[in-house]
Amino acid sequence: MSNPLFRTKSIEQILAASDHPEHRLKKTLTVWDLTAIGIGGIIGTGIFVLVGTAVLGDAHRPGAGPGIVLSFILSGVTCALAALCYAEFAAMIPVAGSAYTYSYATLGEFLAWLTGWNLILEYGVACVAVSIGWSGYFNNILRTLGVALPVWATHAPGSAAGGILNLPAAIIVLLVTCVLVIGVKESARTTGVIVVIKLAAVLFFIAVGIFSVEPANWSPFMPNGFQGVGAAAAIVFFAYIGFDAVSTTAEEARNPQRDLPIGIIASLGICGVLYVLVSAILTGMIPYTQVDIHAPVAEALRMVGFRWGAALVAIGALAGITSVLFVMLLGQIRVFFAMSRDGLLAPWLSKVHPRFRTPHHATIVTGVGVAVLAALVPIGEAADMTNIGTLFAFALVCAGVLVLRRVRPNHPRPFRVPFMPWVPLLGMAACLGLMAFLPTITWIRFGVWTIIGVAVYFGYSMRHSKLAVTRG
Ligand code: ALA
Repeated sequence: MSNPLFRTKSIEQILAASDHPEHRLKKTLTVWDLTAIGIGGIIGTGIFVLVGTAVLGDAHRPGAGPGIVLSFILSGVTCALAALCYAEFAAMIPVAGSAYTYSYATLGEFLAWLTGWNLILEYGVACVAVSIGWSGYFNNILRTLGVALPVWATHAPGSAAGGILNLPAAIIVLLVTCVLVIGVKESARTTGVIVVIKLAAVLFFIAVGIFSVEPANWSPFMPNGFQGVGAAAAIVFFAYIGFDAVSTTAEEARNPQRDLPIGIIASLGICGVLYVLVSAILTGMIPYTQVDIHAPVAEALRMVGFRWGAALVAIGALAGITSVLFVMLLGQIRVFFAMSRDGLLAPWLSKVHPRFRTPHHATIVTGVGVAVLAALVPIGEAADMTNIGTLFAFALVCAGVLVLRRVRPNHPRPFRVPFMPWVPLLGMAACLGLMAFLPTITWIRFGVWTIIGVAVYFGYSMRHSKLAVTRG
């Protein structure tokens, strides 16, 4: 097609570009590393922090109450549908850009750009929310030890009276950035250790909390009806984000065709089961109206008398949220890397460090940008923006599977989405349905973000695209 908006990259072209020596990454990740990266990216601020807002509601929406269990199932099913589509693509096109690259091969350059632009919300802005959640647990643990940091240095303006800067959030982002510059294998190993710690924290909560469940706390089950359950599902969707980060590390996987689908589906499945258990136990232990907003899981244990247990879970949560930061920052860096390699973003973003073999420019730009926002923005706003952008990107991935089955029916597919075309069609409907439950202000911001993205595309990317250069 001659219109630049609809030009696509062939799969062969995409695979060849990723093999260019100047941009080639080390292939070191095993199936265990990939599953750990998945779980490492999934269990974090969503289950440890945002679940409180989802149960109680906030100024923009009603809460789910004990119906939070249904919210987790609803958004888990949405993610499962998208995950199957991701798995087909990841096995077929195992390169760094994830959803962005898949759109480039199927929906054309303009929608690929928009997907990449939304992945900045999914990974970059998610890191903002995640690091603020980290800061909350960090302060919680310090307080347990009798140390109270001043409010001005631990809260963004608008998130607490007297807040000026969230310094712990900014500092943890910069520390993680330094580790990522040094190398991906080192960070995968770190992720593996932390994943074990956070799984232990979640399992500990389940094992201890289950004995304090009073079934009477589950009624009324849906105090705000389906509206509350849906609104909460759109919040806790955040808790599942991260399984797709597995696909952004495809170029570093040893055996991507087999291991990527396993990594994506296994990590999502394990976390989904744990979330349903945690949310059922949380709302069974205490009346839902008493669920804490800042550290709900740890505080629930404290309320039923397990002080030391609460402290252990808080430490596990802190470790868990740290690993999410690693994975999500890594995801953002890989997306910048891929977009720059295609000419849609400045070329220096995809330079690989001669000794560390990591895309150090993309890493530093991402780290500094996220740190600044983490210091200045409230958590809820960052999480809502993340969710709307991610849901949109997931819907595009589902659409992409349908398109590619049509235009390249015979291309080898090591993993195939079952029940075609229903899985991607339902996936799209579910993503758009969850988006509809997000607040109006989030939609307005999303509109502005999209307009900026379109302006950058027409102002820079369309003309600098490698496809424009090679085809004239
Ligand atoms: N799923 C990740 C979290 O909840 C982003 O922190």
